[in-house]
Amino acid sequence: MALKLRPLSYSLGVEVCGVDTSRNMSEQEFGEIYRAFLEHGILLLRNQKLTREQHIEFSRRFGELDNHDALPRDRHPQYPELLMVTNEPKPDGSPSDSKYTGRQWHSDMSFTLVPSLGSLLRCYTAPPVGGDTLFSNMYAAYDALSDGMKKLIADLHGIHQSGTRKIANDETGIKRAAEQKRINPPVAQPVVRVHPETGRKALYIGEKVNRFDGMTEEESKPLIDYLCKHATRHEFVYRHQWRPDDIVVWDNRCTMHCALGDFDETQLRHLERTTVLGTPSGYVARAA
Ligand code: OGA
Ligand code: MN
Repeated sequence: MALKLRPLSYSLGVEVCGVDTSRNMSEQEFGEIYRAFLEHGILLLRNQKLTREQHIEFSRRFGELDNHDALPRDRHPQYPELLMVTNEPKPDGSPSDSKYTGRQWHSDMSFTLVPSLGSLLRCYTAPPVGGDTLFSNMYAAYDALSDGMKKLIADLHGIHQSGTRKIANDETGIKRAAEQKRINPPVAQPVVRVHPETGRKALYIGEKVNRFDGMTEEESKPLIDYLCKHATRHEFVYRHQWRPDDIVVWDNRCTMHCALGDFDETQLRHLERTTVLGTPSGYVARAA
């Protein structure tokens, strides 16, 4: 049976209608879902009332899951495969560690040597308004560059740093950024990546990149800023408004995303993510 797909935006994403991810679907049915994932970059599945185990089970169909050793503070205490994305304060009343997760354009785990294949983010609670997530199509962004720019960036490597931007500019935020740097030394990744399954070239850049390998920050910044601005032009972007029981699956090899802080922080926003391991990419960066 052919899947029912509804486009989410001009440049990427489809809603997969009428699928229940809590049941053990056939190889053939999952194969269709995986083909749609490769073709459209983003899948939205609505009204998926899953237990945590079922979220993990469905995610495993995409590949082996990350145990989030690179982000130990954010994983679920009982389920290392689940990464918490929540602003719910801790039991002692202190702020959540993942309150500002994803508030910059990025591709998951780009700051490690095994960047993620894809992520499956499940919404439990969304604020009444705002708290949306933006996604952009990095194939389209690459294709739209001039031949001159494609040539210029062909052999560049961007240095990806986890926790670069101290969005929580308080004591905890600063301490956390330092800890992240210790656990995850900066990694150089190609600025143009060939998708291992589709063979297509995609831009691989974002706001975690602070310089190009072999260049200073000052030299690199104008081009990084340009590429980020280019890659997030409206025509390449889908904006997702979360509803409880949504699952959004994205391909980290050809899309990037950004969490918006456009909501009342006293309102609960709680999501949980599984992260599918990708193929090795990049190298540990030399000091500047
Ligand atoms: C993530 C992420 C964005 C959001 O879970 O990887 O970046 O909007 N989340 O919560
Ligand atoms: Mn993310």
